[in-house]
Amino acid sequence: MHPMLNIAIRAARKAGNHIVKSLENSDAVKASQKGNNDFVTNVDKEAETIIIDVIQAAYPEHCIVAEENGTIEGKDKEVQWIIDPLDGTTNFINGFPHFSVSIAVRIKGKTEVGCVYDPIRNELFSARRGSGAQLNNTRLRVALTKDLNGTILATGFPYKHKQHAESYMKILGSLFTEVADFRRTGSAALDLCYFAAGRVDGYFEIGLKPWDIAAGELIAREAGAIVTDFAGGTDYMKSGNIVAASPRVVKAIIKHIRENANEALIK
Ligand code: IPD
Ligand code: CA
Ligand code: CA
Repeated sequence: MHPMLNIAIRAARKAGNHIVKSLENSDAVKASQKGNNDFVTNVDKEAETIIIDVIQAAYPEHCIVAEENGTIEGKDKEVQWIIDPLDGTTNFINGFPHFSVSIAVRIKGKTEVGCVYDPIRNELFSARRGSGAQLNNTRLRVALTKDLNGTILATGFPYKHKQHAESYMKILGSLFTEVADFRRTGSAALDLCYFAAGRVDGYFEIGLKPWDIAAGELIAREAGAIVTDFAGGTDYMKSGNIVAASPRVVKAIIKHIRENANEALIK
């Protein structure tokens, strides 16, 4: 296994175990608001510290981009770890048992390895560029669905960015006439992994951050997915607007997005 993936997995498991333990003593969980409908808890921060400590013990010179701590510069500018210590904080705060730890490593701007850990189900999704994706020890393959008919799509409501509400609802309404159903589970990282595992047929969301998707998008691509932004390009790490599906389903989703979204979202 790639040595950095090994460290990422060690860090994700350690942080995940801490998150689950904290859930057992919910009185000790303190939430505060950092933006519109955007919350952080002491557990998000503690999990992030656990991850950073594991990474820095192994690779003290690497750069780190962490959701709660921001950018930590290292001497080695070519390697960047991207961390979401708790993806699904709203679920966590409400005791809704669906969240994850997401860690990716980018080298010279390319994601090399990534892992997403669901500590409730003890499911570890991981990938190394060019070597495929796994759930625990099983190889993942996406569902190669031919069109939207009968599909289940995962998505996320833009609840932190209500300026996109109108475009999003139009896209959703338009897609709903063709798909079978949607799933909104509250962890973007797991949405990408569930798609990689064939549990849903595709996924799209508006306005994500690099730490929400860095690991999950590699896992989805290594499982055979096409991942694009809303214009069909590859700028989703910058724009935060992402579509992941089989080639034909990506094309169909983008068609609905183009026909219904505000132009600014498509560029
Ligand atoms: C959020 C989750 C959610 C998605 C949001 C993300 P957080 O991350 O991934 O599913 O809809 O856009 O910001 O805040 O729980 O780490
Ligand atoms: Ca997140
Ligand atoms: Ca988070």
